[in-house]
Amino acid sequence: MEKKSSSSFVKEQHIRYCLEKDVESSLTTGFERYYLINQSLPEMVFGEIDTSSSFLGKNISAPFIISPMTGGTDVSRKINKNLARAAQELGVVMSVGSQRLAIEDPSLISTYYVRDIAPDIPLLANFGAVYLNYGYGIEECKRAVEMIEADGLTLYLNPLQKILQKDFNTDFRGLVKKISKVCKELDVPIIVKEVGFGLSSSAAVMLREAGVWALDIAGAGGTSWAKIERYVKNEDDPSYNVRDTFDSWGIPTADSLVSILEVIKDMPIIASGGIRDGVEMAKAIALGASYVGVALPLLSPAMESYEAVKEKILSIINEFKTAMFCCGRKNLEYFRKGDCIKKKIGSYIGDG
Ligand SMILES: Cc1cc2nc3c(=O)[nH]c(=O)nc-3n(C[C@H](O)[C@H](O)[C@H](O)COP(=O)(O)O)c2cc1C
Repeated sequence: MEKKSSSSFVKEQHIRYCLEKDVESSLTTGFERYYLINQSLPEMVFGEIDTSSSFLGKNISAPFIISPMTGGTDVSRKINKNLARAAQELGVVMSVGSQRLAIEDPSLISTYYVRDIAPDIPLLANFGAVYLNYGYGIEECKRAVEMIEADGLTLYLNPLQKILQKDFNTDFRGLVKKISKVCKELDVPIIVKEVGFGLSSSAAVMLREAGVWALDIAGAGGTSWAKIERYVKNEDDPSYNVRDTFDSWGIPTADSLVSILEVIKDMPIIASGGIRDGVEMAKAIALGASYVGVALPLLSPAMESYEAVKEKILSIINEFKTAMFCCGRKNLEYFRKGDCIKKKIGSYIGDG
């Protein structure tokens, strides 16, 4: 058994709520405002569909990322190992969850370490960018990467979550400059993501200027940290009686994706936040995303077994392939051209 800090207790609370309660945003992703154009004469056999791609120089079977979720507890160890084994067998990307617990207490590194199980996959390290304002620097970034032998480091941005947690670490000033320094001094590429409220196009432009390699939108429509933190706070002390004001906060994933792609053409954009099936995955890729990321739908399978994780990911990828086939597109390059997806007439923000 790992020793339990209050932070690892909170991590366990998060997982429990994600498994037991409605933690999804009151907003939709916005993908329902788009439709893929059915091609009744696809001129190919299904077996020809090629979803292979690459990520940080490594081949992957599909543009699919297991988004960061956990680490630091015994339960997290099991979750990470099941995710990693499935990722290795399927050839997809995986990120571990925030490594702050292990940066502060190296005895917890083993709950994140999956390289022995997943020697070939692109693997991503992770922690909150705000900690660059609270004593974390290049040294901690390197440690996060080295402790799991990662191919890249993802820094997450979570201002709303920090406020709702009633956390003292709410100083988000000057982060772009600090992220830029990390990009220059680390040997691996840096990705910046949100946690479920979406990146704006202005934030995206600042992060590109800072030298970030890729952006992960993590838009609204999926896991809502407003809901999760509300449950946590009200459980900690019912007298808080935290309201649901922010349950529909954020930029829907499709809107975040489209607005960023209007201003950024030259860096990988990961669409995540509420991707729940292969048709949503297909819409994100057809709109121009390089990869998609999925978190919540993999949590319950990861509590069960690596086979269950594999089955869930395969079902999404198979639906994705079906969508490509029915659009008459054999490969990702051809699919991403943008001419097999349309916005529904009369749709506007808030539809759905
Ligand atoms: C249980 C859980 C824990 C998470 N922990 C982290 C984390 O440590 N670091 C991070 O960048 N994102 C974290 N996230 C956010 C996800 O990576 C993702 O951006 C978000 O949940 C939206 O994707 P989804 O709708 O597919 O869940 C977590 C999500 C879940 C469900």
